[in-house]
Amino acid sequence: EKGGYDYFMLKEIAEQPKAVADTLLGRIDTNGSLTLDEVRIGAAELREIDKVVIVACGTAFHAGLIAKYAIEHWTRIPCEVELASEFRYRDPILDSRSLVIAISQSGETMDTLMALRHAREQGSRVLAICNTNGSTIPRESDAVLYTHAGPEVAVASTKAFLTQLVACYLVALYLGQVRGTKWGDEISAVIRDLSHISGEVERVLETMEPVRALARSLADKKTVLFLGRHVGYPVALEGALKLKELAYMHAEGFAAGELKHGPIALIEEDLPVVVVVPSPRGRSVLHDKIVSNIQEIRARGARTIVIAEEGDEAVVPYADHLIRIPATPTLLQPLVATVPLQVFACELATARGNEVDQPRNLAKSVTVE
Ligand code: F6R
Repeated sequence: EKGGYDYFMLKEIAEQPKAVADTLLGRIDTNGSLTLDEVRIGAAELREIDKVVIVACGTAFHAGLIAKYAIEHWTRIPCEVELASEFRYRDPILDSRSLVIAISQSGETMDTLMALRHAREQGSRVLAICNTNGSTIPRESDAVLYTHAGPEVAVASTKAFLTQLVACYLVALYLGQVRGTKWGDEISAVIRDLSHISGEVERVLETMEPVRALARSLADKKTVLFLGRHVGYPVALEGALKLKELAYMHAEGFAAGELKHGPIALIEEDLPVVVVVPSPRGRSVLHDKIVSNIQEIRARGARTIVIAEEGDEAVVPYADHLIRIPATPTLLQPLVATVPLQVFACELATARGNEVDQPRNLAKSVTVE
């Protein structure tokens, strides 16, 4: 049932192009606009929404953090993202004009379920993004957009994460489409790019051998840091989480701009630091800033592992290891940038002799608070 792979996680990483394509299937119509009947909340009501609140845990929370950039950019609706376990206990401000999005692979995570119950009690509409048909979270929500990743067996979430991102982009673009924003042209272009993105994920998977070799060479390290900016920041958090749960290594993700406010003190000789570099096109200011961050940490001895778009030559002089990803629109980059980090964590776990599919102390679905 592992389809020839040693671990479910490897199989699920390899299934990502299909999972992404399946999640898009039937949701983009022939004239390039979105049909999301499942959202079931009428256009008039969607136009009234004045706030989006995303609640989730762990990897699904990281998908939510990325969704915030997309939702705010394409719809101009303010969006908050909160850990479900924190949400309910701080008396959040919600009403009938708030759209709450609960993201969960299993659909059974107790923290997320309690958060959405709380939101419904306040009169908010709840849209679930979920991978498990008929599970509790979609049953208790007003509507559900299913991710079509297929069953995810490995405890560490991979293909579900990529499909959660796709679902979040679909919701963001759909809200933009329904409400009409000044980004109309950009929205159509992104819908087109999204419809081709599974091929880009496939291309990334074809070039992972050097990433595996690099991971094996780092098996005796104690700490790995991850840096990113903009949507690359949650990608860095996700890379760190994967490494913690699978390799049992100390790993932390930082927003690269925060380095000088503290974390740069951690940099020492030969410390591996993974940097997710934004596209040099589009928001190029961010790109240039992160290139100077890479220079700064390298000057202090860090071993830089740089994930950068094909054709980005500015990073070459400062990269001890360079991992190439295809060029994508800025907001979609997490779909390709996360994949090498999954492979990296999986290979490091294997090299350290860990049980990849069943990391210690963890369960696939967390049905207690
Ligand atoms: C990490 C991981 C967990 C889950 C989290 C939420 O690899 O799998 O962090 O993402 O427990 O689970 P769901 O999505 O089922 O609500």
